[in-house]
Amino acid sequence: MMNVKQVLGIGAHPDDVELGAGALLSLLHSQGSEITLLVVSKGELGAPGTKDEALTTRVAEQQAAADSLRARLFFMNQRDGYIRFDADLVQSLERFVEGDPLILLPSPEGGESIGPYYFTTALAADDRKTPFRFAVYGDTRSFPDRHKQVADAILRSRPRFTLVLGDLVATGSDRASWDTEFFRPARAMGAYVPMLPCYGNHEQNTRYLTNLFDLPGNGHWFTFDYGYVRIITLDVEQPYGPGSEQRKWLKKELARKWKGWLFCQFHEPPYGTCFWRGPNRAVAMHLVPLFLEHGVDAIFCAHDHYYMRSKPIALEEGQRGTVQFISAGGGAPLDPFEDAPHVAAQKAAFHHIVLDVSPEQLTGKAITPDGKVIDTFVMKKHGEQPELIIAPKGRHGDWRKAQGRRPR
Ligand SMILES: [Fe+2]
Repeated sequence: MMNVKQVLGIGAHPDDVELGAGALLSLLHSQGSEITLLVVSKGELGAPGTKDEALTTRVAEQQAAADSLRARLFFMNQRDGYIRFDADLVQSLERFVEGDPLILLPSPEGGESIGPYYFTTALAADDRKTPFRFAVYGDTRSFPDRHKQVADAILRSRPRFTLVLGDLVATGSDRASWDTEFFRPARAMGAYVPMLPCYGNHEQNTRYLTNLFDLPGNGHWFTFDYGYVRIITLDVEQPYGPGSEQRKWLKKELARKWKGWLFCQFHEPPYGTCFWRGPNRAVAMHLVPLFLEHGVDAIFCAHDHYYMRSKPIALEEGQRGTVQFISAGGGAPLDPFEDAPHVAAQKAAFHHIVLDVSPEQLTGKAITPDGKVIDTFVMKKHGEQPELIIAPKGRHGDWRKAQGRRPR
């Protein structure tokens, strides 16, 4: 049996945890684990007699069970029969999680097994010492089998969290597709890897994304700090030009002091090379200058269905460039692309990216579902950027126009 210091058993009603995992709890207790039981309701609907009588009986039974395990016991006092699994409940549950406990969520009535799973608590935003890995992928829509292969490969990479760069499903307004195209294929990975999604065009501005994920801020644009990484998420399907609410927010966020790595994630790339679409000149015009002004190290985008890593791109000599990644090989059909001066690597392949981050250096690779590495790279937080390239100005971003070719 594994060596488990702390165990947190969570049940909807008194005795749920003991009925579902009593033998395991007893074994863990005998091996010295500290056990905490968290019971969401007092089970007043689940015993004969009046509600008060039932409540007294069930609380006494739960207390006796806890005593026999020398467990700490907490009730959350929600009304039996009216427990809602929502963000408020998750937040309340999280207050009881300390350290890295083994969490048991047994189902006393049988049914589908949901674990046991385990998780690692996040690094604090001021943790400047601990190196860690995170993953990136996008455009998971339309082909659940392919999405599952990519998601399973992410799980094998064991990142602390993964970015999901939009177009999670083909038709955002179709609630059922969130299960069939996203959550079921990503289930094994999602049990261990927290996901940080952004809106794509296929989400159709639906509320399902913000309802189904517990996201900071308004769920469309928000900042997330993890160790020495700050990730700013944008929704480029909503206005981001001069005068827009999102732009005002972004300027404030970019101006906030931050010494670590600074990344942005959003769906449509400013310097895409897709044969059909070319670059998104509006993003290049309105957002790239802000990224450069505030030292954004890299942007993570999707939308064009392939893998791409750019050289560091600046608008003027002397500026520190921003690297653009396109990671849109999560399952949607692959797109053809063109070569361009700013491309460092690109390949039409289903894939995810992993990034191993330390304060001064980041190493990364793009990996296909069968484990083939299609790109490796190193980025330095400071110092020279030997491959720096200057993007065309004005309605910049369209290298084809700069080369005298006609944009599509
Ligand atoms: Fe898209």
